[in-house]
Amino acid sequence: MNRLSKLKPIANSIMLRARPTFEKHLKYSKIELAPPNPAQIKEFFTTIGKSLETMSVSKFKDLTVREAFTRFLIGLEISCWFFIGECIGKGSIIGYQTAPMSHVLGNFKLPEENGGSGGSPTGGDKNKPTVTRRTNEEAKKENTDAYDKVGENAKNFVGDSRIARANMKYLGYTDDQLSHVKDDLFNFQGVGCPFPFINISPGDRVLDVGSGLGLDTIIAHSLASPNGKVIGVDLSEKECEFANQKVSNQSLSNIKFIAGDMESFPDTPEFSSNSFDKVISNGAFCMAPDKKKAFEEIHRVLKPGGKMAICTSVTLKTLETSKNWPLCMEMFTHIDKLEPLCKEIGFKNIEIDTSNSLMNYPLEVDIVDKPKQSETAPENFHEPDDKYSHVKKMDMNEWIARVVVIAEK
Ligand SMILES: C[S@@+](CC[C@H](N)C(=O)[O-])C[C@H]1O[C@@H](n2cnc3c(N)ncnc32)[C@H](O)[C@@H]1O
Repeated sequence: MNRLSKLKPIANSIMLRARPTFEKHLKYSKIELAPPNPAQIKEFFTTIGKSLETMSVSKFKDLTVREAFTRFLIGLEISCWFFIGECIGKGSIIGYQTAPMSHVLGNFKLPEENGGSGGSPTGGDKNKPTVTRRTNEEAKKENTDAYDKVGENAKNFVGDSRIARANMKYLGYTDDQLSHVKDDLFNFQGVGCPFPFINISPGDRVLDVGSGLGLDTIIAHSLASPNGKVIGVDLSEKECEFANQKVSNQSLSNIKFIAGDMESFPDTPEFSSNSFDKVISNGAFCMAPDKKKAFEEIHRVLKPGGKMAICTSVTLKTLETSKNWPLCMEMFTHIDKLEPLCKEIGFKNIEIDTSNSLMNYPLEVDIVDKPKQSETAPENFHEPDDKYSHVKKMDMNEWIARVVVIAEK
């Protein structure tokens, strides 16, 4: 029995690492193994005819390298059929675009190996781009600036809740939970769904860490009502302002958003030790430069026997230190570090759930009409600049995963 329980995390870890490759090849095969349709056959014969003609009159010498390469690939496509088509059609053998967590990856940063504590530029080779590491303070400032803009913009922003609903359903939210978020599902910025992992009951005192625009906080409030109390804490004052205004408009009581840092909660009665039954977090932990401090704070404010469910992104492989990384990526921790860290702090019954961990996943949204939404999407605030162009080429499912850290005090 003991051996079996040891095998489970190993099996989970193998599955987690194998799943992205498996899914990629499954999608790949579905497309590549499909026989060509008549229109494609005609297209291939036309192209090969053109190529033969070009060769016969030596016109190929006038072709650009790109044109010549494309024709060469088309020739190969005809002979090999499988795989080469991907180079032609998709520009990359592994370049499938599905549902990206763009709001997360738009806001990139570097792994903890670099600690978020280096801060100074490194590397002296003039031909290489200068590699910079953010100090913890710089990371928090970058985060606050970006999310204050999200909070400000939220007053006027209208997004497409149909896409948000499909995304949230995929992540694990129930229709009932979603019904408590009135008109702004599109303001969801999380990376998972903490609720299947934590049983929030009426009367519970709940803390939502990195509450953003307050969607999970409102859902937690519906579960803890009528006698419970829910607090959202977030580094961004503007997001807290927006969320407080929203719950006030909805006349909800016993729910409040307080600006503060998860690495050191505000010194107010709300955050006294042993005061919360449950702590949730969604997409915020990944950004904390000092995760030990953040987990220690949660441990401090949880009542003995209290539980946490933290949805966060992690790295599966170590990111190259010779490159610049967007804010969140620079802050991501490696999956294998989470359990030892929680154990060291004193958490019990620790589990790292990887059952829904893909970063890119297919979303089924049947939308025919143009969504009613503002011109400026919130992602624009996190637009990666040129020094992160290498990130666009990475297969995120191989490098990064979404996990839930579940543990008890
Ligand atoms: C991706 S958003 C997720 C927001 C919300 N949980 C949701 O699911 O919609 C991440 C949030 O974490 C907050 N955050 C980042 N670092 C933080 C810190 N050190 N302390 C508190 N909040 C932080 C950001 O301001 C932002 O609102």
